[in-house]
Amino acid sequence: MPIVKNVSRAVSQLLQSSGCGCGISIVPVRCIGVSPRQVASDASFHSVSFSESDHPRVLITGGLGQLGVGLAKLLRKRFGKNNVILSDIRKPADHVFHSGPFIYSDILDYKNLREIVVNNRITWLFHYSALLSAVGEANVPLARAVNITGLHNVLDIAAEHNLRLFVPSTIGAFGPTSPRDPTPDLCIQRPRTIYGVSKVHAELMGEYYHYRYGLDFRCLRYPGIISADSQPGGGTTDYAVQIFHDAIKTGKFQCNLKPDTRLPMMYIDDCLKATLEVMEAPAEALTMRTYNISAMSFTPEELAQEVQKHIPELQVTYNVDEVRQAIADSWPMNFDDSNARRDWGWKHDYDLPEQEIQELLHVSKLQAGVVAILV
Ligand SMILES: NC(=O)c1ccc[n+]([C@@H]2O[C@H](COP(=O)([O-])OP(=O)(O)OC[C@H]3O[C@@H](n4cnc5c(N)ncnc54)[C@H](O)[C@@H]3O)[C@@H](O)[C@H]2O)c1
Repeated sequence: MPIVKNVSRAVSQLLQSSGCGCGISIVPVRCIGVSPRQVASDASFHSVSFSESDHPRVLITGGLGQLGVGLAKLLRKRFGKNNVILSDIRKPADHVFHSGPFIYSDILDYKNLREIVVNNRITWLFHYSALLSAVGEANVPLARAVNITGLHNVLDIAAEHNLRLFVPSTIGAFGPTSPRDPTPDLCIQRPRTIYGVSKVHAELMGEYYHYRYGLDFRCLRYPGIISADSQPGGGTTDYAVQIFHDAIKTGKFQCNLKPDTRLPMMYIDDCLKATLEVMEAPAEALTMRTYNISAMSFTPEELAQEVQKHIPELQVTYNVDEVRQAIADSWPMNFDDSNARRDWGWKHDYDLPEQEIQELLHVSKLQAGVVAILV
C-alpha cells in the first residue's frame, strides 16, 4: 500500500499559527528553592515578547532518547537549526552534537532549567524526559522523581515564562479497569505502574495549570512507537523496535511478550508529525488538552510474520518477561482517537504494509552498517 502524503492538509497546517492562549492573571512562580508562590502575570519577567511572525524558540528535554533526536530534526527543518535546542543529562553522539544546539539539562535542577529557558528566550518546550514503564518499575523512587518532580519543575517554569508546553502521555496512562478495545479519551484511568500513574498526574496537572493559570498545555497519548534508527528506552513496546535491529544483525529475535499481545503502535514519523501538528493547531480548535492518537494495532506474532516476508530466515522465539507482560495485559489494545481527528485533523500516514516494513528494515540495515564501522 503506498504511503499517502496529505500535502494540502500539511500546507494548511504550516500556514496556521496562533499565539499563546494565556489570559488569566496569576501564574505560579518558584524563584528560589521549592515553594510555589503566585505573582501577577504582568510582572517584569514577562518582558520577553514573542511575535507571531517569529519562529518559536524550542527546548526539548530528555532529547537523546528514542524520540527526541528525530523531533529535533523535524523541528529544525521547520523553524531553523538554531531555534531548536536539544537537552539531556547524557552525552550526545558526535553526529547529534554537530547537528544543532545541545545543552546539558537535568530537569530535577529547577534553577538551571529556568536559566536555560531565560537565556535562550525559549517559547516552546517539549518535555520528553522520563523513565519509561519497564525501567520505571525497576527503580520507582527515580521514576517518581524524574516523572513527577521533574514535571512540576517544567510546569512552573512554563507557566512563569508563558511557554507553550508539550508533554507526551501514553497508552500506559490506562489500566486494567479501563475499556481496552477501543479505549476512548475520557474513561477510567487506574494504571498499575509508576510510569502510568506519573503520566495521569501529568495529564491532570497540565490541564489544571491550563484552567487555573492559562498555561498553553498540549498533550498526546502516544501508542508504542516503532523506529529503526533509534534504540528503545525501556518501555513495554520495545520489542517492536528491537525486532528490526535483531532481524538485521543476528537473524534471531527473542520476544519478551506473548505472541498474541495486541497493543496500539505507531511509526515514529507519524508520532512526530502529530506532535508538531498539535503544537501548531490554533488554540480555538482544541476542545481538549489531552488526546489519544492512533495508527495501527498488532501482536508480536503478526509483526514477526510481516518481517519474515522480507527476511524468511528470521527465527522468532518467545521468552516472556512477567513484568512487561502484566503491564501489556493492562493496557489498551486499540485506541479511539476520533477527537484528535475531528478537532485538529489528525490522520496517520503509515500502516504496517510491506513498504513500511521494508523501509524499517532498510534503515536498520544502514544503522547496523554504521555500528559495524564504528566498532
Ligand atoms: N517511545 C515510546 O514508545 C513512547 C510511547 C509513549 C510515550 N512516550 C513518551 O515520550 C517521551 C520520550 O520517550 P523516549 O522513548 O524518547 O524515552 P527514552 O527513555 O528513550 O528517553 C528519555 C530521555 O530522558 C532522559 N532523562 C532521564 N532522566 C533525566 C533527567 N533527570 N533530566 C533530563 N533528562 C533525563 C534520558 O537520559 C533519556 O535520554 C517520554 O516522555 C515517554 O514517556 C514514549
